[in-house]
Amino acid sequence: MCPGEGVQAPEEVEFTLESIERAASLEELERVRVALLGRHGSISEALKSLGTLPPELRRQRGQVLNRLRDEAEARIAARRRILEDALYRERLAAERIDVTMPGRDRLRGSLHPLTITLNRIVAILEQMGFRLADGPEIEDDWHNFEALNFPPHHPARAMHDTFYLPDGRLLRTHTSPVQLRAMREHRPPLRVIAAGKVYRSDSDQTHSPMFHQVEGLVVDEGVSFAQLKGTLSDFVAAFFERGFRMRFRPSYFPFTEPSAEVDLLWEPGDGSAPRWLEVLGCGMVHPRVLKNGGIDPERYTGFAFGLGVERFAMLRYGVSDLRAFFDNDLRFLAPFV
Ligand code: DAH
Repeated sequence: MCPGEGVQAPEEVEFTLESIERAASLEELERVRVALLGRHGSISEALKSLGTLPPELRRQRGQVLNRLRDEAEARIAARRRILEDALYRERLAAERIDVTMPGRDRLRGSLHPLTITLNRIVAILEQMGFRLADGPEIEDDWHNFEALNFPPHHPARAMHDTFYLPDGRLLRTHTSPVQLRAMREHRPPLRVIAAGKVYRSDSDQTHSPMFHQVEGLVVDEGVSFAQLKGTLSDFVAAFFERGFRMRFRPSYFPFTEPSAEVDLLWEPGDGSAPRWLEVLGCGMVHPRVLKNGGIDPERYTGFAFGLGVERFAMLRYGVSDLRAFFDNDLRFLAPFV
């Protein structure tokens, strides 16, 4: 039994109070309320018309209508609480958060493996007393070749597959031209490294037209090949965090005499036999290069070395195709931290 059922609405009150309980939303309830109790609502209108009735009837009808109004107000308030409560529950369900779910991680950027490798090489050499020097990527022929003892028609130039600019300048083919810039800027003792991009018109599984090198140069009185060997074996051990058998194989570079290539006895880790891998070039700075750098070769000697950053990264991370470093595939790049 509804609480208002005992109250009989006069015929001019068109709305039955049951429409309050039938209201399915707060908006609908509000419409019902206006229709009953609003300024022109049926109960309000009936109350207004009381004044026209004779006193006895007015009192009777007045009592009934007032009770009806109170009843309507109470039932509307009750219905509103129910509807508001349902709305609240609905929202709670919709906005439910499962706090036991794992968090959604943001996609975080990381350094490129070549940057990591380059930084690592530079940091180790800096700890060994080298200072970072800089030079331009667009070089002139003199710094890139001539002053490094590549005369104009020297066959070694052909090995460099140089990119030339229309004005005769070129994209540096190695970091060795920074040797000249460092020597001409500073007096010995010199202990510098240069790191950065170099360019050659060459592209396959182990060559990219742009790659990275780190160059080292030491010039002082009495610098020896033995010091070069010690420096490089310390560096290699620090970089790979283990010792290697190393081999200095006689080689040729125009700017060093004698020259050597350094091989490591590499254990591939897949069970296959160890093999010698070439990792860098080096030598004693050619007297003519010292002279071009404004340094007296009678008084000073020097050693130099150059290494490929991609090569060191491939060995350290076990990457077999150099092109993976340049494809920008996040599935490859993301694991390097
Ligand atoms: N510049 C050489 C190259 O790109 C690498 C190199 C070899 C640098 C011997 C040196 C060095 O400083 O002594 O192939």
